[in-house]
Amino acid sequence: MPLQQRIKVLIADDMVELRSNVRRMLSSAENILVVAECEDGEDALKKVVEFAPHIILMDINMPKIDGLKATEMLAKDHPEIQVVIMSVQSEQEYFRRAMKAGAKDFLTKPFSSSDLIETITNVFNKWVKDRPDFQLTEHNAQVLTFFSTKGGVGKTTLAANLAVGLAQKGKKTLLIDVSLQFGDVAITLNLKPSRSIFNVVDKEEQVTAANIEKNLTQHPSGLDLLLAPLEPAYAEAIKPAHIKSILELMIPAYQYIIIDTAPKIAEIELALLDHTDILFLLATLEISSLKNTKMCLKTFNDIKFDTSKIKLVLNKDIPNVGIGPADIEAGLAIPMFAVVPMDSGTAQKALNTGEPFVVKFPESSLAQSIEEIMKKILPAEEMAKKPLPKKSAFFKIKDLLTGSVS
Ligand SMILES: Nc1ncnc2c1ncn2[C@@H]1O[C@H](COP(=O)(O)OP(=O)(O)OP(=O)(O)O)[C@@H](O)[C@H]1O
Ligand SMILES: [Mg+2]
Repeated sequence: MPLQQRIKVLIADDMVELRSNVRRMLSSAENILVVAECEDGEDALKKVVEFAPHIILMDINMPKIDGLKATEMLAKDHPEIQVVIMSVQSEQEYFRRAMKAGAKDFLTKPFSSSDLIETITNVFNKWVKDRPDFQLTEHNAQVLTFFSTKGGVGKTTLAANLAVGLAQKGKKTLLIDVSLQFGDVAITLNLKPSRSIFNVVDKEEQVTAANIEKNLTQHPSGLDLLLAPLEPAYAEAIKPAHIKSILELMIPAYQYIIIDTAPKIAEIELALLDHTDILFLLATLEISSLKNTKMCLKTFNDIKFDTSKIKLVLNKDIPNVGIGPADIEAGLAIPMFAVVPMDSGTAQKALNTGEPFVVKFPESSLAQSIEEIMKKILPAEEMAKKPLPKKSAFFKIKDLLTGSVS
């Protein structure tokens, strides 16, 4: 079943064992997707905003805000979310109190997998039945991958700036650094990487939405990031199947997923291609870059990648170097999607301060190019700019020199 048609469930229980049991029971249900876990009522109230579940499985006895109080608050603020209470107490009185708080059903612990699946499905179907116009409206992220088999052409620069640009426009955006050995996204955006994609796969039998979420890093623009491992040696732990699971779990939770890649085509990159909606194929005006781009196009053709997804982007465009955008288009026999000029001053200043040029130099030609790319991928009415949340200036070079940035 397509991810966007599943019933999204959030599990709120302070017992980690109970949460994993419930998750295991639900793993066999094709129509259900566990989007997040929480260990107290307060966390559950926060996560409903981020994950927009259809159903919450709510324990009664939880720290901070208990399950009944949280259910009452949800009934008031999010009546579209249906609560199923889980409790060891089976007495009528508990059932009555749960229903009074606004719960739609009650499961007495321990319950069987079939009871659990049936309860969730029934509660959801009952709610949908009264709303004939309802459609499952979870996000279905567009996956935009920046790619080139040549290093240094600007993949990270453009990926980071586009991701921040989309987040600034209020789009729920995730940037994943799949340049697993030497990922530069963290340093480009001046983020201290304490968590990474490695933590998502480390010791986990199965990649889970909750574990991904725990290991995300936030940028002041509102962008979420899943960073590359902190050390090159950890890169090996990340397998193509992990990438596939991460994308499948995150596609329903975001509007845009931007992926930065390493300059190569291997198994990881092939796994990415399977989920990519737009592949930004980067080239520069160097003959070696053109040769590589041509070979890339041939490889995509050979592996039967849908070439209509490929958007050619010429980066570091500069006049009078013997070849220009028109020659590239003709040579590669593919239309040019965007041309980004060479502007080393802006690129280096932005990089060295860790502030993307779409924030630091919004009037620059580089920021304008990102704006042009956004115009082509966003519906027109969504192009109105949103102000960026206030952020303290931070000088990365100083930090690097004094050793506080790893
Ligand atoms: N349009 C541009 N004008 C001037 N400099 C640029 C431009 N785009 C990127 N750069 C600079 O080029 C260098 C390489 O960029 P970047 O790290 O983004 O490339 P990459 O393709 O991600 O490299 P790698 O393959 O090593 O990951 C950086 O110093 C960056 O600031
Ligand atoms: Mg890079």
